[in-house]
Amino acid sequence: MAKILVTGGSGFIGSHTVVELHNAGYDVILVDNFSNSNPKILDQLERITGKKPEFVELDLCDEAKVNAFVAANTDITAVIHFAAFKAVGESVQKPLEYYRNNFYSLLNLLFAFNKKIDFVFSSSCTVYGQPEKLPVTEAAPVQKAESPYGNTKQIAEEMLSEACAVSPELFVTSLRYFNPVGAHETALIGELPIGVPQNLVPFITQSAIGKRGPITVYGNDYNTPDGSAIRDYIHVVDLAKAHVAAVKRLEAKAADTNYEIFNLGTGKGSSVLEIINAFETSTGAKLNYVIGPRREGDIEQVYGDVTKAATLLHWKAELGINEMMRSAWAWENYLKDNPF
Ligand code: WQD
Repeated sequence: MAKILVTGGSGFIGSHTVVELHNAGYDVILVDNFSNSNPKILDQLERITGKKPEFVELDLCDEAKVNAFVAANTDITAVIHFAAFKAVGESVQKPLEYYRNNFYSLLNLLFAFNKKIDFVFSSSCTVYGQPEKLPVTEAAPVQKAESPYGNTKQIAEEMLSEACAVSPELFVTSLRYFNPVGAHETALIGELPIGVPQNLVPFITQSAIGKRGPITVYGNDYNTPDGSAIRDYIHVVDLAKAHVAAVKRLEAKAADTNYEIFNLGTGKGSSVLEIINAFETSTGAKLNYVIGPRREGDIEQVYGDVTKAATLLHWKAELGINEMMRSAWAWENYLKDNPF
């Protein structure tokens, strides 16, 4: 039975991926240090899957502990590496903490597996910056990162590609996420932002439930149909399923190279105002918002060309904006009655 190591497995995308790996019949072992997640998620995963996930609390920046963990778990057949700091704004304030955490953890894993492992890397569409051409393909040039967070993703991709070039038994797939949103249909797991949400959808749900004031739309003077910025929002469950597809492709050794990159989006762009409208119409909840200035570092519009994932991963996003909004709202209501 294939056993998948999921680092950051109690996080937003990690926890949803654990559910889909379980559904696909994989054995899973999670590691996390709860620096940006909540241990209660493990109990929630048991409620969803009917099985308590195998878990080890581990700081991946501790080389000796990572080596000991890997030596004690020789049955791991693949790694899905989510564990990283990921807040764009925070990374500008704490660049060295971001470089240390995101690179030490990645390098410790690669060395502990002796550069011989199937490895799925959690990357981001931020590597594209503001693409010249839309929808953006995987062949588009990587542009100078707008933040240390984005830079950690760009540099990590380069490190992995260079390592694969000289390590024939290291097989890596970098998955470039667009904007993951929504929650599991059971409303037992979802996004758990710490403090004031930086991302749009958790701010929307917290504003709608009364935890926050009105939403500020960061700019309505962009060169877009309604003036607000456009992103490719993807349901976190669709995103999780793409990770299972990526593991299967690595297992099959179906690629003619040992380093691949895939865009994971819907291929459709939605503006901030469209998201606000979709939330109101799909949930019936009323939102208050104000128009404010553009946010430093934001790009105008990005959405992905997702042909490659459809062709080679045999995967495409199936859930639409309304289900993204409905599930995010159900999760926010669950949290209101069951605070973590
Ligand atoms: C979406 C849109 C904002 C909040 C980030 C990371 C990216 C990835 C996804 C990790 C933008 C607007 C937001 C608000 C607003 N994360 N907005 N009012 O910035 O596209 O991407 O999350 O991989 O790396 O950069 O996501 O949700 O912050 O913003 O108007 O209160 O909503 O300006 O246009 P973003 P976001």
